[in-house]
Amino acid sequence: MSQPNPLPLIARAPVIPVVVIDRIEDAVPLARALVAGGLPLIEVTLRTPVALEAIRLIAAEVEGAIVGAGTVTERAQIDAVIKAGATYIVTPGTTPELAKALAEAPIPVLPGCATASEAMTLAALGFHVLKFFPAEPSGGAPFLKALGGPLPHLRFCPTGGIGPNNAHEYLALPNVVAVGGSWVVPGAAIKAGDFDTVRDLSTAASHLVRAAKFD
Ligand code: 3PG
Repeated sequence: MSQPNPLPLIARAPVIPVVVIDRIEDAVPLARALVAGGLPLIEVTLRTPVALEAIRLIAAEVEGAIVGAGTVTERAQIDAVIKAGATYIVTPGTTPELAKALAEAPIPVLPGCATASEAMTLAALGFHVLKFFPAEPSGGAPFLKALGGPLPHLRFCPTGGIGPNNAHEYLALPNVVAVGGSWVVPGAAIKAGDFDTVRDLSTAASHLVRAAKFD
């Protein structure tokens, strides 16, 4: 079973913004600000009623955006997000049933894991690039560094508790291909329609340097 490889997508930016959209009218300007700031890989989480519509609008209207669906927790959501225009899927954790369905998805997937055993179970299903969640409470960068010893073929995108003060600790590891986080999309700025702040935070994040190799 071979999954579409997420690495060519992830190579596009060191940070994947994890976005929660409450008001549908924010979707397009928010995505435009992220793209303008150099973060085109936008993960729209399925945590609000408008999430699918937000994916659809961003995919249709925002040039340069690479929109993915986050917080995918059920098999039925896979088809729905693909129909909406998502080009990749992220999960916070992965049940055996979800993992089986994801392994057959036609788009790249970053399945979530938080332990060595979960990472190995996903690798056995053909996944070699995994979300590590929740990164900080689960051991942070030292945990991923330690996993690189016994599991050097696995790559990670950690999210959860990552921000401008610690992103570099993760990105300095050769097995970390990108980090995810909400720090570039502060709820208060979105609520105030302050997309310039989103763009500026994104510009700073887009300059973060990663050690991982993509060739
Ligand atoms: C999430 O899925 O909520 C992400 O991990 C974002 O976490 P953060 O808000 O701590 O960046």
